[in-house]
Amino acid sequence: MSLQPIWAIQTRSRQIDLEQFSAEVRPVSGAMGAYVHGLDVRDPDFEQLSRLLHSFKAVMLRGQPADLSIADYVAFGRGLGELAVDPYVEPPFADHPEVMGLVRDADSDAYNFGGDWHSDGSYLERPGGLTVLWGKHVPTHGGDTLFADMELAWETLTPAFREMLDGRRVLHAATGLGQKVTIRSKGDYVGLDRSRDLERIEHFHPIKRTHPETGRHALFVNQAYSVGIEGCSDDESAAILRFLFDHSGLPAMTARMVWEPDTVLIWDNRMTTHYAIGDYGGQRREMYRLAITGETPF
Ligand code: SIN
Repeated sequence: MSLQPIWAIQTRSRQIDLEQFSAEVRPVSGAMGAYVHGLDVRDPDFEQLSRLLHSFKAVMLRGQPADLSIADYVAFGRGLGELAVDPYVEPPFADHPEVMGLVRDADSDAYNFGGDWHSDGSYLERPGGLTVLWGKHVPTHGGDTLFADMELAWETLTPAFREMLDGRRVLHAATGLGQKVTIRSKGDYVGLDRSRDLERIEHFHPIKRTHPETGRHALFVNQAYSVGIEGCSDDESAAILRFLFDHSGLPAMTARMVWEPDTVLIWDNRMTTHYAIGDYGGQRREMYRLAITGETPF
């Protein structure tokens, strides 16, 4: 029996040279995440942004122009990759179907979209690569986005446990285990197109996901959509997944990213899970999301 050496791993692998960035970079936690000043989405330095994302996995770009338009924002997203269009969600701007609106009014009691640990679209054949979120109107307090570093989660499993999991696949389903909020009621908030069939979308993906650019590995499971481990009984799957959800949600794996006005957040779904905290009742939160299609996980 040995203790998992989380602190040793963090100090060994998290020593990022901030001098390599011309932008001003402030790490959010020991695990991951950075607040960045000096990177303008209307004049983006994609090479630097890519290094920032490889290093920190989620970055909040502060100080964006107050007059940033939806067209500017979509142009920025296109520079990051192929923009996905969600077939089930009514876009808030007819001429920009790639933009998803996550808008919750001060008096709303609707489900808080993203209020489970998840990796965007992990049930798709090609789940989300990067996601971009523009806080058009953010609460004065509350409504933070919480992340878990799934590379750290993988590294901090013991070699014996990793060996048992490595090579296995996990089933991800859009409906999740059905114990929480269904995709149908999530639509109350994001504007679901009810004329479409909500068939069950599910795919198997490797439990150890490899980043296509860095070659690094991450634990690829999440509480919202991972429903079973291939080759295991329901009871075995449930127990192992429960452990992995708890392990990856340990405070030392996480970064709580705090919104300010004029901020654009970008995260890498391959290496992280996230959780939108719905603790801003009585305040409006207006966010616009872009999803950059990722590769078939390997
Ligand atoms: C999401 O889960 O995509 C939304 C995150 C947030 O609203 O903070």
